[in-house]
Amino acid sequence: MLPHPTLATRYATPEAKPEYVNRLFDRGAKHYDAVVDWGFLRSGASYRRWSLQQHGLLPGDHLLDVACGTGLVAVAAAKILHTADNITCLDASTGMLDVARTKLAARFVLGRAEQLPLPDQAFDFLTMGYALRHVTSLEDTFREFHRVLKPGGKLLILEVTKPTGRLAGFFFRLYFRHLYPLLTRLFTRSDDARDMMRYYWETMDACVPPALVLAALQSAGLTETKRNTVLGLFSEYTAVKARPGDLPLPTEF
Ligand SMILES: C[S@@+](CC[C@H](N)C(=O)[O-])C[C@H]1O[C@@H](n2cnc3c(N)ncnc32)[C@H](O)[C@@H]1O
Repeated sequence: MLPHPTLATRYATPEAKPEYVNRLFDRGAKHYDAVVDWGFLRSGASYRRWSLQQHGLLPGDHLLDVACGTGLVAVAAAKILHTADNITCLDASTGMLDVARTKLAARFVLGRAEQLPLPDQAFDFLTMGYALRHVTSLEDTFREFHRVLKPGGKLLILEVTKPTGRLAGFFFRLYFRHLYPLLTRLFTRSDDARDMMRYYWETMDACVPPALVLAALQSAGLTETKRNTVLGLFSEYTAVKARPGDLPLPTEF
């Protein structure tokens, strides 16, 4: 299942999506941190750290941060782990990875979420921040997450989700569709950065509903699948790779 239908104004076929997305992030990489910093009212670093703590990241854990981008989740994780030694950061964009490398002494891997070039059962904790909309298959991605997690390992996926209420939906659209790309262009003077933020909106607008994300997590064999929402806007999808002999737990919506 695709996380959103093909966006024909951006790329012609589903096969063309990875190249399009890579180019978008390669070009926008140098602006990404500044744009998401003020765009989310400077809350991004503390929210990422708080969420990792809430969902059980512990010192000593081996962490894989998939779609690490410029390293915002990994930097927050290193503060909890007190080191970056056990952090592996993976991304499909060399431009984004180049920025991340300047921030922490983790292991960096160029690769795709759908086909992780990493061994089985290697990680205690796996994160993916604001990138689920960019993969080409939810099932392939979640199967890979299940494969590389150790039994008992935890998954945390952070996303921004369009609110369902009319009023909240109106302001969400006003901000992410119109104001955010406009302000991005004004502050960065970069068409590439504006384009990155326009695409951000388009993919959120077209994204499959949370229930389908949870169903795909379950069908990949993950258990204790849950979605927690913060301010009705931020989705935190969590799941666990069961240990042999664990009884399956139901999904929560
Ligand atoms: C919006 S950025 C998120 C960066 C970071 N995780 C954060 O919390 O800000 C999305 C990232 O996903 C990466 N990406 C897109 N498709 C990917 C894929 N299939 N596999 C791995 N990374 C991917 C992009 O290169 C980009 O760095």
